[in-house]
Amino acid sequence: MSNEQGATAFAGEDVLGPTGRPLTEFPEPPVLSSHGPARIIAMVNQKGGVGKTTSTINLGAALAESGRRVLMVDFDPQGALSAGLGTNPHELDMTVYNVLMDRKVDIRDAIIHTDVENIDLLPANIDLSAAEVQLVNEVAREQVLASALRKVEDDYDVVLIDCQPSLGLLTVNALTAAHGVIIPLICEFFALRAVALLVETIDKVQDRLNPGLQVDGVLATMYDARTLHAREVLARLVEAFGDKVFETVIKRTIKFADASVAAEPITSYAANHQGAESYRRLAKELIARGGSP
Ligand SMILES: Nc1ncnc2c1ncn2[C@@H]1O[C@H](COP(=O)(O)OP(=O)(O)OP(=O)(O)O)[C@@H](O)[C@H]1O
Ligand SMILES: [Mg+2]
Repeated sequence: MSNEQGATAFAGEDVLGPTGRPLTEFPEPPVLSSHGPARIIAMVNQKGGVGKTTSTINLGAALAESGRRVLMVDFDPQGALSAGLGTNPHELDMTVYNVLMDRKVDIRDAIIHTDVENIDLLPANIDLSAAEVQLVNEVAREQVLASALRKVEDDYDVVLIDCQPSLGLLTVNALTAAHGVIIPLICEFFALRAVALLVETIDKVQDRLNPGLQVDGVLATMYDARTLHAREVLARLVEAFGDKVFETVIKRTIKFADASVAAEPITSYAANHQGAESYRRLAKELIARGGSP
């Protein structure tokens, strides 16, 4: 209860929304009558623990709820996305690593149908940590993921790639394969510093490898409206990125950790929780912006 009181103590927030813009009523996503080709979105930030995996699972689940066919690609050897969707990383025969390293492997043989309707997963485990080094000697080493995904692009409406916290060759592969980038960013000052280097990397990939790449948005995560600190960070973000900052802001709540222990998206684990609602709103905002069909 004291939380609620604290949150409403800052007058105007509910009217304007945390980013200082008036809150938009985003339309319900249109029903899709056909599927594909997929729009590919990389969830990128080289800083660890900013909400990339949480946002991949929950944005993906919200898009799936609205009838979009979603492929989630675990592109982190830690395998947090795979675990978060209920797979045991040690029991996987075939992962994204095999797809990258052996052109005879069909990506469809590595893709898993999850328990959640409309969500498939291209899983990863620790094997992927070797790929960074092994890919260095490949021809067109930055395009390996892009060409693998091309084979299934007509099967999905959205592909979300959960990147590892680095700007190495795997992340460059994700940026090369993608149409758009979402940058999840924790609302703390130290996190702002990482963004300049990230933007520089995105610019380089646009320049040299993927001219069509767009920044779909910057997503403020783990926001705590009660702290001046978080509100100042958000204000700085809006100053730097303007309308690129999603109007939807993800608040800090322990429910996300609970959902990942249960290996479920929050949209099914706690369907009516405010955290689930936030990711549904983000899905609508993304669709309204043209970031997803
Ligand atoms: N909105 C939130 N409120 C509270 N905790 C959150 C929120 N979002 C994510 N978390 C928690 O923060 C931790 C880091 O989140 P997550 O794993 O999504 O970040 P990440 O950017 O993918 O990390 P890594 O860089 O290590 O892959 C997790 O324990 C997660 O449960
Ligand atoms: Mg992660």
